Amino acid sequence: MKKSIHNPKQAAGEQAARLVKNNMVVGLGTGSTTAYAIKELGRQIENGLKIKGVPTSHQSAFLAVENGIPLTTLDEHPILDIDIDGADQFANFIAIKGGGAAHLREKIVAESAKKFVVILDESKMADVLNHSVPLEVIPCARRLVERNIAGLGGKTEVRMGVNKDGPVISDNGNFIMDADFGDIDDPISLNKELSYCTGIVEHGIFTDVNVVYIGKKDGTVEISES
Ligand code: A5P
Repeated sequence: MKKSIHNPKQAAGEQAARLVKNNMVVGLGTGSTTAYAIKELGRQIENGLKIKGVPTSHQSAFLAVENGIPLTTLDEHPILDIDIDGADQFANFIAIKGGGAAHLREKIVAESAKKFVVILDESKMADVLNHSVPLEVIPCARRLVERNIAGLGGKTEVRMGVNKDGPVISDNGNFIMDADFGDIDDPISLNKELSYCTGIVEHGIFTDVNVVYIGKKDGTVEISES
């Protein structure tokens, strides 16, 4: 008999992985929740599923290879069937992502997919977004971005490494700055304002979520579609 899952991230990740069908090309998100989806896809591949994955980070590429998922690129497969990825906070089908500094490639992959599925545990759900917004920033633009974000009412901090002196360097060679705006009453407008800021390569507000899988403490998963 199959044991019930009481880890909300695992429940959401494994259930969302079952959306993946034979011959699909799949965006592989980054983070601890997506890791459960990637491992589940690996188990399905052992049972005969045939798919290809496009990783969103070195982390997801390593994990995909460990779990037997053949990798491909957006050059070979510019349109993906589905992308499954985690989030740091979620409200009204808008996600804040980038806690793992991977939001640049995550957004490219999400926007390349026909269906963008976010997986998370219920603690990430909010009525109003207020999580800091990760920014991937060209290193020489750090002070310009700091001033421009202040002009938008936010306060930035350069993300510092753990077990690495100095700033976190993204998979693409850039700095990560976390911008605190307090309550984000109008995330759609902030999304546009941040996209206009010179020196910010990409920010962590994701507005095009199609489906969310919310893992609950009791082991159930709530699914909502936009
Ligand atoms: C990676 O940069 C992020 O966007 C992650 O997807 C996000 O931080 C969620 O991570 P967890 O699933 O580990 O909470």
